[in-house]
Amino acid sequence: MKHSLCCLMFKSEKKTKSDVGLFTENLNTTRRLAAHVSSETWAVLLEENGKTHVVELVDKQQKIKGLGVLNPVQLLANIKVGQMVVIGQKELLRLPARLPELSNGMKRRAQTIGSKDAGFFVAKLGLGANDRVLEAGIGSGGLSLYIQRVLGPNGVHVTVEPRAEHAEVALENLRRASACWDGGPQHHHFEGHLEGVVPSIQSAVDEFEAVVLDLPDHPSAIEVSAPMLSIGGRLACYCPVTSQLERAWEACEDAGLVVEWAGELMQREWGRASKGGMRPVNGPFGHTAFLLVAQRR
Ligand SMILES: C[S@@+](CC[C@H](N)C(=O)[O-])C[C@H]1O[C@@H](n2cnc3c(N)ncnc32)[C@H](O)[C@@H]1O
Repeated sequence: MKHSLCCLMFKSEKKTKSDVGLFTENLNTTRRLAAHVSSETWAVLLEENGKTHVVELVDKQQKIKGLGVLNPVQLLANIKVGQMVVIGQKELLRLPARLPELSNGMKRRAQTIGSKDAGFFVAKLGLGANDRVLEAGIGSGGLSLYIQRVLGPNGVHVTVEPRAEHAEVALENLRRASACWDGGPQHHHFEGHLEGVVPSIQSAVDEFEAVVLDLPDHPSAIEVSAPMLSIGGRLACYCPVTSQLERAWEACEDAGLVVEWAGELMQREWGRASKGGMRPVNGPFGHTAFLLVAQRR
């Protein structure tokens, strides 16, 4: 997939909150198509070990990673959601393409944000219907799936990414979501560093209720994106190491934002013990990143 400076549903007209609905109505043909084709274009197949495969329903013999050579349309023609299919030595359950399935089975390249931190961002930023969200960098589109799931058809999602090979993976993941879910937001994607594409972003969307930055270096991106926040809007940073967190905090204050929350989320999974009872499962107790949320007042 080739990406120009702005490649998805770009419109040169500046959008305010009040005309988002009209904008969507006029241009969001991809989403209307999605409503029509959702259950016919992609299938989700779950292995017993939890591995999830997201398979495009194309009527062609092809090699599918992890499953082998098959024709998805012919293989799944009589397999309904909830039924099992055998492929080689594997027994797989067909499931609907909901957020956890598309996230578990997504294509990956850059390190992704998962449900633990994405759910927190969605809640702390207060994301919901009609919001306009700016996200940089898009990476593999892991966080983008969560954002797109909650914005609704009048929401606007703007993504930015300098590396075309990352954007290609992310946009493929969002193409799947668009085909599987009704009522997704308008999506604009810009190729480049956030700091270099601000005029292009502003020619499409004049302000945002939320900005999310998952970048190796936050300060310059905070400096250019904080002025694009609406009053009361929030900016979130994803910082794998503490030095990034500290620099992000300082940059937010320099940009006139009020830091509301900074810290780390711990997640501890429990399971059933072999001799009865419940206990924390064996396995690493991992760190993902430090999170920061700041508000424009
Ligand atoms: C860790 S990845 C983001 C992963 C993403 N949050 C996800 O869940 O899939 C960080 C991305 O930021 C991009 N990036 C680095 N500097 C950037 C900048 N100044 N503006 C926009 N994107 C940038 C990188 O190319 C990389 O793809």
